[in-house]
Amino acid sequence: MKNIVVLVSGSGTNLQRIIDTIDNGEIRNAKVTLVVADRECYGLERAKNHHIENILIPRGKNFSSELSKVIPENTDLIVLAGFLSILKPELCEAWKGKIINIHPAMLPKFGGKGMWGMNVHHAVIEAKEKESGATVHFVTSGIDEGETILQKCFEVTENDTPETLAEKVHQIEYEIFPKAINKVLNNVPI
Ligand code: GRF
Repeated sequence: MKNIVVLVSGSGTNLQRIIDTIDNGEIRNAKVTLVVADRECYGLERAKNHHIENILIPRGKNFSSELSKVIPENTDLIVLAGFLSILKPELCEAWKGKIINIHPAMLPKFGGKGMWGMNVHHAVIEAKEKESGATVHFVTSGIDEGETILQKCFEVTENDTPETLAEKVHQIEYEIFPKAINKVLNNVPI
């Protein structure tokens, strides 16, 4: 069995998708052993609803060092699912190749500092981009710079708004995140 720790900051729909795809066997041979949030959020409620151990570590300069103390040693993968705090380089190095993140855009475009949540979708619309999508990538000390594991795009239409983009991106995320986790954990080809 492979052990996954999930980090959340928001509504946790990607966390829910991970829980559901483990339950339906799409993600093989895995278990979410711990959910950590950096703020009060519905993601924590989802963990409680599924009887998954959960911790709130307030965001701030000590977050990464406090997190290091609670990640079980037998953890195979740390998954950032709508997680907004930036992890310290020491932590990224200590868990190199075992931390992945989902980003709501086609990296390397619309990544980096300040590019999170609705900010991304507003930027895509303002730039009159022809496409958008989501990217699952390894986490390194460079924000959104780690190697891409899987990404998928869709066409942006003239009627799209940041809100409609956010919903379309979510649908892509729910499709590619389980596949990316399966690839990293179980080496299942995509
Ligand atoms: C997702 O679109 C993710 O890419 C971004 O924030 C959103 C979080 O959604 N970082 P949820 O909390 O998983 O519902």
